[in-house]
Amino acid sequence: MSATRFWRLDNHPEGNTQFDQALSLQHEELGPLPAGHVRIEVQYLSMDAGTRLWMSPRTDGYQPPLPLGSPMQGLCLGSVIESDDPRFPTGSLVRGFGHWAEIATVDPAATGLEVVDPTIGDIRQHFGALGMNAWTAYVGVKEVAAVQPDEWLVVSAAAGATGSLACQVGKNLGAKVIGIAGGPDKCAWLRDVIGVDMAIDYRGESVEERLATVDGGVHAFFDNVGGPILDAVLPNMAHYGRIAICGMVAAYGDDAPMAGPARFDQILMRRLRVEGFFIPDFLERGAEFMPQLREWMDAGELATIFDETQGIENVLVAYERMLTGKSTGKVIVKL
Ligand SMILES: NC(=O)c1ccc[n+]([C@@H]2O[C@H](COP(=O)([O-])OP(=O)(O)OC[C@H]3O[C@@H](n4cnc5c(N)ncnc54)[C@H](OP(=O)(O)O)[C@@H]3O)[C@@H](O)[C@H]2O)c1
Repeated sequence: MSATRFWRLDNHPEGNTQFDQALSLQHEELGPLPAGHVRIEVQYLSMDAGTRLWMSPRTDGYQPPLPLGSPMQGLCLGSVIESDDPRFPTGSLVRGFGHWAEIATVDPAATGLEVVDPTIGDIRQHFGALGMNAWTAYVGVKEVAAVQPDEWLVVSAAAGATGSLACQVGKNLGAKVIGIAGGPDKCAWLRDVIGVDMAIDYRGESVEERLATVDGGVHAFFDNVGGPILDAVLPNMAHYGRIAICGMVAAYGDDAPMAGPARFDQILMRRLRVEGFFIPDFLERGAEFMPQLREWMDAGELATIFDETQGIENVLVAYERMLTGKSTGKVIVKL
């Protein structure tokens, strides 16, 4: 292929809808491969809530804003079609932070590019049980929230990609898991398929009242949301509980800092430890996580369902579905 289509960030989006006002699909002829670069024919794109921050003008996020006029960045899975780096030979299956593009031309060092196993039955699992969301779930539950057997673990945005994996990591480590998600269907899925001990529909129930029934309080909280959900959990934490701050998706559409928790006082009253973590800081430890994740996946103990959209032209539809809670599981786009 000598040309590609890619999504370009033209303006900062407002909220989590109408992304077509901010991004446009562009056509580009491919030039010669720059030195040291790799060209990937993208098979799947990963839709990740955290990338919404990259579209914002905020300069106090965990990475600088993406300059307007740039190709939108995102995790890609695909085959190398041209390479000037011997670590990524033509034909190898790779995953990394490329672009929302049919063909992504990347600098391996700047994009966390890695060769992944092409022989697993379903290569989409490189965005599922073996992907970044799984690494995030594993680090967040096991190390940051430091969950112990028989403890109560609460997970917010529990029916999403990261959350559903965090619930399962918690179960696999012997915890009792409570998932918080939007709507009765997601809660039924969490109970019946993911196997949580309790599911709370934050749209239809009082999270604070349901958590008040947890005997002994919540020992560990894996928070993907922040805002009112964090406020509902804080007064229900057990003494010496741990809160792993994974994400604050409730505020990503606002382009403004999230207000601090109204129940901040509970951090002192209950002697809590609160810690943010960011998975790119752990990329070099991927090989360490993989054997355990692979074992759980093969045993059917780390399931992912994929919410799959077809075609580069439909990327924004998939992205909006994810951010507005219309999807369950991992949102991907097949190219
Ligand atoms: N720290 C890290 O390194 C790291 C890495 C990966 C992901 N994350 C974080 O993990 C979180 C989930 O990301 P993901 O990519 O896996 O997306 P996801 O969970 O698959 O999709 C986002 C989900 O967030 C929920 N949501 C959106 N707005 C909400 C609100 N105002 N209140 C409550 N829930 C809301 C929606 O589910 P409902 O229907 O339940 O509302 C939606 O399905 C994000 O906060 C992301 O930043 C962090």
